[in-house]
Amino acid sequence: MNDLLYVNGGNPLNGTITVRGAKNFVSKSMVASLLGETPSVLRNVPQIRDVKVVSGLLDLHGVNVKYDTDAGILDLDPSNVESAHVADIDAHAGSSRIPILFCGPLLHRLGEAFIPDLGGCRIGDRPINYHLDILRQFGAVVDKRPNGIHLRAPRRLQGTKISLPYPSVGATEQTLLTAVRADGITELSGAAIEPEIMDLIAVLQKMGAIISVDTDRVIRIEGVDRLEGYTHTALNDRIETASWASAALATGGDITVKGATQPEMMTFLNTFRKVGGRFEVQDDGIRFWHAGGDLKSIVLETDVHPGFMTDWQQPLVVALTQATGLSIVHETVYENRFGFTDALRKMGATIQVYKECLGGRDCRFGQRNFHHSAVVSGPTPLSAADIEVPDLRGGFSHLIAALAAKGQSTVRGIGLIDRGYENFQDKLEALGAEVVRG
Ligand code: EPU
Repeated sequence: MNDLLYVNGGNPLNGTITVRGAKNFVSKSMVASLLGETPSVLRNVPQIRDVKVVSGLLDLHGVNVKYDTDAGILDLDPSNVESAHVADIDAHAGSSRIPILFCGPLLHRLGEAFIPDLGGCRIGDRPINYHLDILRQFGAVVDKRPNGIHLRAPRRLQGTKISLPYPSVGATEQTLLTAVRADGITELSGAAIEPEIMDLIAVLQKMGAIISVDTDRVIRIEGVDRLEGYTHTALNDRIETASWASAALATGGDITVKGATQPEMMTFLNTFRKVGGRFEVQDDGIRFWHAGGDLKSIVLETDVHPGFMTDWQQPLVVALTQATGLSIVHETVYENRFGFTDALRKMGATIQVYKECLGGRDCRFGQRNFHHSAVVSGPTPLSAADIEVPDLRGGFSHLIAALAAKGQSTVRGIGLIDRGYENFQDKLEALGAEVVRG
């Protein structure tokens, strides 16, 4: 159903678009509203499917959600939080992994929580073992049943010492959302410190939480008895910003992204410059452009913050197909995030994937049969093709490839892109792209 996009590519994308709140912050901040005794207001909320999914999940749990889409303002009233049926949660959550983050807040509010089997993008196994271990450490009893997972808190959850084997974003958020109302102090070591997590900490602090971020990825949370609602303006989406920047590079264009902010983009901007892209940081955004001439090949490794984000990798790889020489990309966050390169090969790119850790240090996926390194040889002109979107970021990369390729491409499954890119078709048109929904 309108899940096709015909793309007439080969022309540079030029113009100005605006990004709003970060998908990977907004959804978590919405969950945080469950912890407050009074209503919360979240501003700068983009119209993306993940916001709809989380609104629906909150609604199922008795939260009164009002969303002014144009103004981007969400009002969340958790006065009547209640249990929801796992089948309804399952039906509503679709492929989202957000339900796992409802557990801590629901255990505090109701003493129990149910979650279905979890999805998310097809970019690896994406287990939830860290989450369940953390919840057990707080004192939750976890019961795996055929239709999902049932959790209960026989007594108030207790602060604890948690050490993450890997700085997982979700597991750090799980700890924060659970520890703030637990009894006593929680010390989390090996935490993720992504800007979206810092913004979540800011929200929780506004609600009354006591959280300190220490050196060496240690976060300390002092549990409190009561939290209030918050009013907050979401930080902007640095993944969407990088996606448009990569689109400018791959199509030889010039895109100003209003709302893009430099501090969260530093690592990306360094890489963008090394590839040969030009940028200018303005008061209200960042302009990205291809200055003409050859793009340069690079060696790149994805990592947790402050490293190069895994979500920036896929769009940038499309631009790397246009760089001269051999680029090496080592994906160290997900074991299986190069599936999208099949379509790029079909379009004429020369990309080989390897099981070895190429281009830097050994990572936890080495010697384990995961194709997690890629060598991109360029420049190769891309030709139009019929391609299927594999996941959110891979899907946007396919779009970029189709826009860079001469002729008409058919991109299937673009509904997945709506999960995280607000009004992307309008934005493409504003940048001069010739696209038509099928
Ligand atoms: N992991 C485990 N066990 C767990 C949880 C994670 O082994 O219980 C592993 C994962 O399999 C992965 C690594 O730890 O290899 C990192 O996963 P993390 O928990 O950090 O990822 P996430 O919280 O599930 C969020 C974003 C992703 C983004 C990653 C990394 C949301 C909703 N999702 O996922 O965003 O790639 O952090 O920054 O915030 C996207 O936006 O397209 C997207 C996939």
